Amino acid sequence: MLVALCIAAAFIVVSLARWTYNWRNPKCKGILPPGSMGWPLLGETLQFFAPTTTFNIHPFVRERMKRYGPIFRTSLVGRPIVVSTDSDLNYFIFQQEGQLFQSWYPDTFTAIFGRQNVGSLHGFMYKYLKNMVLNLFGPEGLKKMLPDVEQEARRNLKRWSSQNSVEMKDALASMIFDLSAKKLISYDQEKSSENLRENFVAFIQGLISFPVDIPGTAYHKCLQGRKKAMKMLKTMLEERRAKPREQQSDFFDYVLQELGRENTILTEAIALDLMFVLLFASFETTSLALTLAVKFLLDHPSALKELTEEHEAIIRKRENPDSVLTWSEYKSMTFTFQVINETVRLANIVPGIFRKALTDINFKGFTIPAGWGIMVCPPAVHLNPSRYRDPLEFNPWRWQGIELNGATRNFMAFGGGMRFCVGTEFTKVQMAVFLHCLVTKYKWQAIKGGDILRTPGLQFPNGFHVLISEKLTSVQEPTT
Ligand code: HEM
Repeated sequence: MLVALCIAAAFIVVSLARWTYNWRNPKCKGILPPGSMGWPLLGETLQFFAPTTTFNIHPFVRERMKRYGPIFRTSLVGRPIVVSTDSDLNYFIFQQEGQLFQSWYPDTFTAIFGRQNVGSLHGFMYKYLKNMVLNLFGPEGLKKMLPDVEQEARRNLKRWSSQNSVEMKDALASMIFDLSAKKLISYDQEKSSENLRENFVAFIQGLISFPVDIPGTAYHKCLQGRKKAMKMLKTMLEERRAKPREQQSDFFDYVLQELGRENTILTEAIALDLMFVLLFASFETTSLALTLAVKFLLDHPSALKELTEEHEAIIRKRENPDSVLTWSEYKSMTFTFQVINETVRLANIVPGIFRKALTDINFKGFTIPAGWGIMVCPPAVHLNPSRYRDPLEFNPWRWQGIELNGATRNFMAFGGGMRFCVGTEFTKVQMAVFLHCLVTKYKWQAIKGGDILRTPGLQFPNGFHVLISEKLTSVQEPTT
């Protein structure tokens, strides 16, 4: 009996040792990038999620770049992953989307965004959805939306200026969410019995987080939020179906029209997942960038001065200073775009862009095995001192004379290649118009907060509380 037990124990120990050895030394037909696979199952997940409070490259990536070079291997949330901080490999990955690489996100993403979200779809279906989104957020849609964006910015700023303190991140997120929800599904929070927006709170923390679905974790909060939001969206879509409108005026109408077509490839589940992703993207991303811009401008008076001059000049040049912003005025905001580029470069709102290798890929002497995940790491590019002098400095003038109409090897805040963010221009419109309304009429001072935390998603753990007040001598304002 004892012998049998000893044999069984020895067998378990040997199997475990072999399994651990294989875990640490994954099979590869070439040379794997250097790195460590960390602990069995856990990999290096804990180090990846370790909180940090600086704008610098996350220590997880920084330390490994120093130890292993720009391309290294690791294991995160149970998956073998190659991390790329190499501009050439990043560029190659973006160019090869759908051929050698495919969009792939960890299970936390698919659980929260839905299995059929736009980031997980490929080929024809993906192109179809992208066109649907561009119908609303492309230049023509945005031109129509410009007056609404301005009106909302003015209305909110006026309200905030009568308050003793405004928490910018939440306030901006609400403003942007309400506008997007109005455009997408004609949702009006003030007229609704349920609050759709509150389901999206804490998403950035939960999205790139440890996937533990127990009460109290950010991940759990996100999943609960998704469940409730999806239920609300489904009910709204059903109500609309029961009472269709004569004229198509929002995204729901468009979706219903598409669903009603013969041989359509759209399904209700895909449409609802898309709606959910768009509402999330509108809620979290732009509000983080805009909060940071407001903070950077406060900390850099010379940038604020030049920005204010640009916007006051726009109003002075008008025949009628009371008129609303035009598309060509928006397009003329050169310094504003420099401020936006610089803000999103430092914000690094998306700390990792994920892909999967569809086949064994050889690059710069290393092999990325088929099936492995790849994480393109934009912060490592945006904060590389050989690409950006004093990379941690907020310096909008570094963008002088540079026109960005997509991604470059050195700028990928909005991704790159075929999957370049469809909301980029919408974000820029929101940011530029808000800054226009802010600097021409208001001044602001910090009251508390404003410190950042990355886990590795960007957060303002203490918010950013400011006092906004009307300037005594402002340029004459339109009466929207
Ligand atoms: C500061 C604001 C934003 C940043 C930094 C940002 C960043 C990104 C990045 C890096 C990607 C590429 C992901 C990938 O390649 O896997 C992406 C994709 C995407 N973004 Fe944004 N985004 C922002 C705002 C928005 C907004 C406002 C919307 C909604 C209208 C939006 C909708 C999307 C969608 C639907 C995709 C998926 C596109 C695809 O898979 O082809 N984004 N975004």
